[in-house]
Amino acid sequence: MELETEHFVGSIDQGTTSSRFLIFNKHGEPVASHQVEFTQIYPNPGWHEHDPFEIVSSVETCIDEAVKKFEAIGYSRSSIKGVGIANQRETIILWDIATGLPLHNAIVWTDARSQTVVHGLKARPGAAELEQTCGLPLSTYPSSTKLLWMLKEIPSVKKAWDDGKLVFGTVDTWLVYRLNGGPKANVLVTDPTNASRTMFMNLKTLQYDDKLLEFFGVKERVYFPKIVPSSDARAYGTVNSGALAGVPIAGCLGDQSAALVGQKAFSPGLAKNTYGTGCFLLYNVGSQPVISKHGLLATVAYHFGEKPVYALEGSIAVAGSGVKFLQNNLNFFAESNEVNDLASTVNDNGGCVFVTAFSGLFAPYWIDDAKGTIFGITQYTQKGHIARATLEATCYQTKAILDAMEKDSGHALTELSVDGGMSNSDLTMQIQADLISIPVYRPTMRETTAFGAAIAAGLAVGIWNNLDELRTIDRTGGTIFEPKISQQKRCELFARWEKAVGMCRGWGD
Ligand code: G3P
Repeated sequence: MELETEHFVGSIDQGTTSSRFLIFNKHGEPVASHQVEFTQIYPNPGWHEHDPFEIVSSVETCIDEAVKKFEAIGYSRSSIKGVGIANQRETIILWDIATGLPLHNAIVWTDARSQTVVHGLKARPGAAELEQTCGLPLSTYPSSTKLLWMLKEIPSVKKAWDDGKLVFGTVDTWLVYRLNGGPKANVLVTDPTNASRTMFMNLKTLQYDDKLLEFFGVKERVYFPKIVPSSDARAYGTVNSGALAGVPIAGCLGDQSAALVGQKAFSPGLAKNTYGTGCFLLYNVGSQPVISKHGLLATVAYHFGEKPVYALEGSIAVAGSGVKFLQNNLNFFAESNEVNDLASTVNDNGGCVFVTAFSGLFAPYWIDDAKGTIFGITQYTQKGHIARATLEATCYQTKAILDAMEKDSGHALTELSVDGGMSNSDLTMQIQADLISIPVYRPTMRETTAFGAAIAAGLAVGIWNNLDELRTIDRTGGTIFEPKISQQKRCELFARWEKAVGMCRGWGD
């Protein structure tokens, strides 16, 4: 019977607020999964940290629990042939090469504490040219400025640097290192999609670039992970302990690249928008990077052995985290999916615009010192209006990103594929379609981030032989949201948003 001979691939999805492990069959269907939320640490306004060991333990728990569920439905763990990783990007962890112990909490991608570092770097000669090489502009977002802040402010990091013991890692590197057993195996690797978020990698060579490292002053005395292809059965080592001990880690992608792969956007011109903690629109531009002139990022989409594939990216810092803010900070509701009901109690935003700039404003605006600001509050304003304005904020930024993408690429998208938690909200997806005036397609199988990492690993261990085989996996079903509002209404709404963006800057600390 097929149960005995079928092969599976596991996928770690290590996101900003939760870790998950999913097990996929060859048809791209998740057959077992487990999710664990972990602690968000906000020590100061604009700061955001994670406990590096909690990241690892949450992943290990997810693996063990998902494998238990997998076995409970009759499968054997030995049929899982490889594990892929999709991870939150830019977040950095620094550790000691000898002990394998972290020197500080992870500084999360949303963290805006490196503002002063960024201002200093922008004044250095060559600052404006960095983007041509690495695809990213200087801001608090990439890993580089977080590393420099830690070198300056954290004595244990400075000491490890002085002693030549400092290891730099993004979350993929940390996870691979720990899952392999830490210092005894000492596997220090990353993939180009993650390395392209550091500002240290040359987008064309897919290797660290001396000029970039010199600019940031980190050419010497730091152990950087080796950059290896995103799909590779050997480079990432094997899981050392737990339910999948001995299984190769065979693929690794930054989570947004993973979602592009999981949506099977393998051809130039295809795009996806993932509404997670933040929201990230990636547009496949093919085998040459496109450096944006309109506030987007150039990044690696995936590197599966032959030529790398690149993407233009529009990054929005706040999406689901805006909903969490209403839930946890303002006590608007008990469960985040209730936002949809609350926002549906009103017909529109009642004149409110919420620029959810909790960590400055990312693409295409890049305003480091913007602060979250609600405009248009009157005695008429209800919670529902603010809930609606929170959902709309992500949709407006997506519209601004699509406009920028059209200018950079010369092509207009004809449909937007979506996934991620907030895409479950019909109301949000209708607002999105209305604002961008093209249909929004939401697939039935929305575990695209995890599926992308499964694809990276599955290609390396022979679950699938090539991308064409994956293209044939059925993509029927799903929901299409058609735009419904007039062009005039759309322009009015967007003009009001842009006005609000113009007024949210310069608040200082
Ligand atoms: O660049 C940050 C991104 O990788 C985080 O993704 O899904 O945790 O919002 P997510």
